[in-house]
Amino acid sequence: MAAHFARRLEGKVAIITGAASGIGEVAARLFTRHGAVVVIADIQDDLAQKVCENLDPSSITYVHCDVTKEDDLKNVVNTAVSKYGKLDIMYNNAGIVDEIKSNILDNEKSEFEKVININLIGTFVGIKEAARVMIPRGQGSIISTASVCASIGGVCSHAYTSSKHGVLGLTRNAAVDLGRYGIRVNCVSPYTVLTTMGLYTLKKIGKDSSNVYSNLKGATLTPNDVAEAAVFLASDESKCVSGHDLIVDGGFTVENSGSSMFK
Ligand SMILES: NC(=O)c1ccc[n+]([C@@H]2O[C@H](COP(=O)([O-])OP(=O)(O)OC[C@H]3O[C@@H](n4cnc5c(N)ncnc54)[C@H](O)[C@@H]3O)[C@@H](O)[C@H]2O)c1
Repeated sequence: MAAHFARRLEGKVAIITGAASGIGEVAARLFTRHGAVVVIADIQDDLAQKVCENLDPSSITYVHCDVTKEDDLKNVVNTAVSKYGKLDIMYNNAGIVDEIKSNILDNEKSEFEKVININLIGTFVGIKEAARVMIPRGQGSIISTASVCASIGGVCSHAYTSSKHGVLGLTRNAAVDLGRYGIRVNCVSPYTVLTTMGLYTLKKIGKDSSNVYSNLKGATLTPNDVAEAAVFLASDESKCVSGHDLIVDGGFTVENSGSSMFK
């Protein structure tokens, strides 16, 4: 079997933010399996070290990085370039969700700002820092984890929904800007994935994992499904894909649950 496994990221150098757990952790493992060298960037040092311990040390490095700090992101990018000579893939995946409150009057401005700061501004700086080293080489693939909340309302908090709409807008704008230099910019948009964040969200809205996927029979979205979508966007197989939102949701966002005729 191993002989037939195509290593789709062979020789590439990637940074993945938020890779100490959840989707980012699984993506880090999958990217290395596909032949990439990965720098994982997170604030949870112990968890990140554990991710590294289970992988070949020559293919993985951890750098502490709070994506709200511009200098931290600059340092991660500089570390990747000084250690491995280049940066091919920047995967802005770090994110948080705030407490879901059913009434906007209960939302605090400070909570809103915290989510925007990590999810949107952290992604902006991640794209900017990656572009700094990718532009001179005239190539690169930048990916961000958005969400179904990037294109529809009513699924999560105001802050989270706003931040992910922002990530999608930023993806499109950066794709137009950086396309001039041969750099592709895309995002991956999952529906609920059963990570720490996904389980928290489900609990808050009173659902359990068995009834999340209303549309595609038998589908249960896993972190690996999202990571596989990221591998596609990172690889040369998607060389003509830019400014795209790759929605991984089992068809959740295309169904109008109020008026579907397919019951
Ligand atoms: N789980 C879902 O249902 C779901 C659905 C759609 C989109 N997403 C998005 O997927 C991404 C990953 O989420 P996840 O489900 O794996 O959650 P997770 O909580 O398991 O992982 C998030 C990671 O981001 C890191 N992080 C948080 N703040 C950070 C900061 N300031 N700097 C650096 N790292 C930071 C955390 O330490 C953690 O390792 C997020 O952007 C999230 O919004 C998740």
